[in-house]
Amino acid sequence: MEKAKKYIEENKDRFIEELFGLIRIPSVSSKSEHKADMHRATEYIKKSLLEAGADMAEVIPTEGHPVVYAEKIINPSLPVVMVYGHYDVQPAEPLELWKSPPFEPEIREGKIWGRGADDDKGQLFMHVKALEYMVKTGTLPCNIKFMIEGEEEIGSPNLGKFCQANAGKLKCDVILVSDTSMIGQDVPSITTGLRGLSYLEVEVTGPNRDLHSGLYGGAVANPVNVLAKMIASLTDENNRITIPGFYDDVLDVKPEERQEMAKAPFDAEKYKNDLDVEELTGEAGYTTMERTGIRPSLDVNGIWGGYTGEGAKTILPSTAHAKISMRLVPNQKSKKIDDLFKKHFESIAPPGVRVRARVLHGGEGYVSPVDHPAYRAASRAYEDTFGKKPIPFRSGGSIPIISLFEKVLDVKSILMGFGLESDAIHSPNENYPLWNFYKGIQTIPLFYGYYVQENPAG
Ligand code: BES
Ligand code: MN
Ligand code: MN
Repeated sequence: MEKAKKYIEENKDRFIEELFGLIRIPSVSSKSEHKADMHRATEYIKKSLLEAGADMAEVIPTEGHPVVYAEKIINPSLPVVMVYGHYDVQPAEPLELWKSPPFEPEIREGKIWGRGADDDKGQLFMHVKALEYMVKTGTLPCNIKFMIEGEEEIGSPNLGKFCQANAGKLKCDVILVSDTSMIGQDVPSITTGLRGLSYLEVEVTGPNRDLHSGLYGGAVANPVNVLAKMIASLTDENNRITIPGFYDDVLDVKPEERQEMAKAPFDAEKYKNDLDVEELTGEAGYTTMERTGIRPSLDVNGIWGGYTGEGAKTILPSTAHAKISMRLVPNQKSKKIDDLFKKHFESIAPPGVRVRARVLHGGEGYVSPVDHPAYRAASRAYEDTFGKKPIPFRSGGSIPIISLFEKVLDVKSILMGFGLESDAIHSPNENYPLWNFYKGIQTIPLFYGYYVQENPAG
């Protein structure tokens, strides 16, 4: 470990400069104007992997954004670890809320600031640098592959097919992912659960044009009023989701397991302070950690319709829209939830409007096994570098492709994330502490060492 620390210390400025080069490329997957940037990002990562010591690296086109694949095979009889990460980022808007421009990374207060600093450029780059360290020092103990995609933030629409088509190339014993967070800098933890997702856009249509709200108000159904009522009815007074059948496949977590989970430290005051909210609310009968970790949820992500410009305009709008996401727990199937939602939403539409719901994307949740050799290896690695045994915990976020890896490649993933809640991923002023970045580079090589011990045959 001392050797890794020394290597990082001697090279840390270069590591940051190289990571900055990647963050400077605005690889926003959801916007077609960034198509060329997506290619630039893949070439950048390919070059970084080759410089770090990969035997080969290539950019593979898909119907969407390309994938970077690389490998270093030291001995075919040894296990193969495949690193997964994503080079695409969320849009940076609203730009005016950033203290420094999102694609001009800089260091302040010991943190890297920029879109993708954590999610997932900063985190995937730890693996590139860990590879470099292991190759330069001759300590890579097994085979390693990299698959870095560019469509995670839009639901990985092409990666399932990519995995199917390249199953031979992607053959591995375990997938290693740094795209999650820890409970705190001093509370090392390993994510053992991710939620699934159903994401739909709904449209309520009333009259064939915007109407004068004086001449027509009170006599014609107003789509915005209607949509607000419909959305409000989707949860009850206990914050339970009212869609019939919604909870049918939710597995109840056993009381003993809930007790175990409750041991993870959670500071409600700090959580509230960080967010400037006075109270935390959610499904009755569950703690905050349970509400995000083991229970499903429903949220409006955006809502629009009618006049939203300067000043007042007296109209009764013709249409109203909303984007609605449901976070699902393992065993719920997003396709089934999509169908239940659509059916229910259409059924509660009052007379005088038409309602349409369409699926944007989704995916299944995931539970990672704590009795897997790679989990044990990860746990031992964190324990070495943090001086404490990491706590397994279930995160509320989603990485839908992880459950597909299991289905298509029949391989488990281990979620060795080093992010923090305060990293503001998807928000303005995304950041990643240098401490976490270096800690990751230090911890990852230890994982490989322990993994080969725990699973010598591969
Ligand atoms: N890295 C995140 C997911 C995440 C973050 C999981 C922190 C656990 C802890 C990922 O990039 C992400 O944002 N996923 C999306 C899903 C996707 C289909 C848009 C999400 O969770 O909203
Ligand atoms: Mn991510
Ligand atoms: Mn993300």
